[in-house]
Amino acid sequence: MSNLVVLKIGGSVITDKKRENFFRQDVMARIAKEIARCWSTPLIIIHGAGSFGHPIAKQYRIERGYREQGQLEGFVKTLQSVKTLNHHVVTTLIETGIGAVGMPASTLFITRKGIIETAHLDLVFSALDLGIIPVTCGDAVFDRELKFTVLSGDQIAIHLAKSLKASRIVFASDVDGVYDVDRETGEKRLLEKLDYRKHSTLFYGGVEGEDVTGGMFYKVENGFEAVKAGVEVVIVNGLVEGRIEGAVKGKPVKGTTLVM
Ligand code: IPE
Repeated sequence: MSNLVVLKIGGSVITDKKRENFFRQDVMARIAKEIARCWSTPLIIIHGAGSFGHPIAKQYRIERGYREQGQLEGFVKTLQSVKTLNHHVVTTLIETGIGAVGMPASTLFITRKGIIETAHLDLVFSALDLGIIPVTCGDAVFDRELKFTVLSGDQIAIHLAKSLKASRIVFASDVDGVYDVDRETGEKRLLEKLDYRKHSTLFYGGVEGEDVTGGMFYKVENGFEAVKAGVEVVIVNGLVEGRIEGAVKGKPVKGTTLVM
């Protein structure tokens, strides 16, 4: 599907990461209006788990897989909480007049050691065929070796974009893109284009380790996999009005584009 766009909306955009289970309804409503204006671009939406998923997954160490019985409570609670967020996102889209259907990742994917091994894409195809947007999310999932783990929305975005031959992935984050930070002066410069060589020299620092699925470094590192497969990868700030709309439409907007 050559004009398909995969949009990953970060959990830091639609939830307040400092407040557990806090959905930013106003932000999602504004993004939904932007998405409505992108009609008729075929779109798959993936959202992060934000404060509906990370704290609980971290508490029970879900990403490490099954170690002891007590984790099962955390696993099912994570599934339930992410489902609630998915419901909020889909409800907001539908209220904006967009045909959208929620498909939490736990219902679409099975991983092996954290890597997607089985994907039930007929559900995604069936929705796309009707012009309905499938809305999946970073989630806790069943894993063939670990029994369960955490699957990031970023990995899902890359997997879907590659296997459905999407034209573009838009990562909507809470920053403008990837910055080159001068280690001496601390001065930051937004990189409009970023190739792998430059990426490997960058210092990403900061919040890595806070989240169970890692931060910008992993997004970019894995994003190059999609670039290699011929998919355009753009990182924009989803908190700034117009950036998601522009990026989905393929217009030049402030952000970082990964290049070969
Ligand atoms: C994380 O998904 C899933 C869970 C913690 C259950 P993401 O990695 O896609 O979430 P964000 O975008 O960082 O919030």
